[in-house]
Amino acid sequence: MTTSMERPLLLVGCGKMGGALLSGWLESGITAAGVEVIEPMGAAAFEGRPGVTIHDAIDGLAGDLDPEVVVFAVKPQQMDEAAPPFSKFVSPSTVFLSIAAGTTIAYFEDRLGAEAAIVRAMPNTPAAIGQGITVVTSNATTNDAQRELCRALVAATGEAVMVDDEGLMDAVTALSGSGPAYVFLLIECMAEAGVQAGLPRDLAERLALVTVAGSGQLALTSDAPPSQLRENVTSPGGTTHEALQVLMADDGLQKIMTEAIAAATRRGRELAG
Ligand SMILES: NC(=O)c1ccc[n+]([C@@H]2O[C@H](COP(=O)([O-])OP(=O)(O)OC[C@H]3O[C@@H](n4cnc5c(N)ncnc54)[C@H](OP(=O)(O)O)[C@@H]3O)[C@@H](O)[C@H]2O)c1
Repeated sequence: MTTSMERPLLLVGCGKMGGALLSGWLESGITAAGVEVIEPMGAAAFEGRPGVTIHDAIDGLAGDLDPEVVVFAVKPQQMDEAAPPFSKFVSPSTVFLSIAAGTTIAYFEDRLGAEAAIVRAMPNTPAAIGQGITVVTSNATTNDAQRELCRALVAATGEAVMVDDEGLMDAVTALSGSGPAYVFLLIECMAEAGVQAGLPRDLAERLALVTVAGSGQLALTSDAPPSQLRENVTSPGGTTHEALQVLMADDGLQKIMTEAIAAATRRGRELAG
């Protein structure tokens, strides 16, 4: 993928997620007139990368810098301090892209100005290995080219999906944002259940880990939906069937997962205010 930009891309915050984005941009052929990073510390790994200039703070930027995109990748609780100084870059030709969880478009309109073009994105941690999925939404000030540019920028860490309704973002956060934690828990639970069934812990942990990873990859690359893949490994009266009788009971996994994602969605709404 090649995304051409005529003016610099400014990344504010280069921690885990900002770093994953930057690596993705540099590795996936995104060309920028220059990528500039503002990061108080911890960006040493990116020093010397072609086209990337690192600053400690906004004061270090050239006075005439005119970024095409400003990407906010600081923690939500750091945003009150980080975002407002960037209001000086608000113009019809500059778009602000935030990946901060639970931080709304209205929040940025309040800090940057109602005329700011704002794109809100929700990534997840597999972005660190280029296998994330990010959902993207924007305000009415953002034009199609800016939306497409931001979609391409987050797609450097995996898949990207656009939605028109920002109201979906709490459920998105609950499903794909928090989702990696549910999968890690599934691995832990399967391993523990294997230990309870008599396996040595090391073996149970490896079996659980590689089974989840391999099944995810199989589901991703297969033309068949997960339900079909499940049926394919379930012989009537066999061992898998016996386990699924438990997992698919009325009070089984679907009920628990629905409650969990509903709880996370509610919490997202509360945090967004
Ligand atoms: N990690 C995830 O799984 C995940 C998933 C979805 C969304 N997100 C979102 O991604 C954002 C970043 O999360 P993260 O996990 O990457 O956090 P992180 O590793 O803590 O990265 C944030 C970075 O921003 C720096 N920073 C703080 N204040 C700044 C300022 N005023 N100007 C420039 N840089 C500043 C921090 O430096 P210091 O360390 O010196 O404070 C830190 O290096 C969050 O808003 C989060 O909601 C993360």
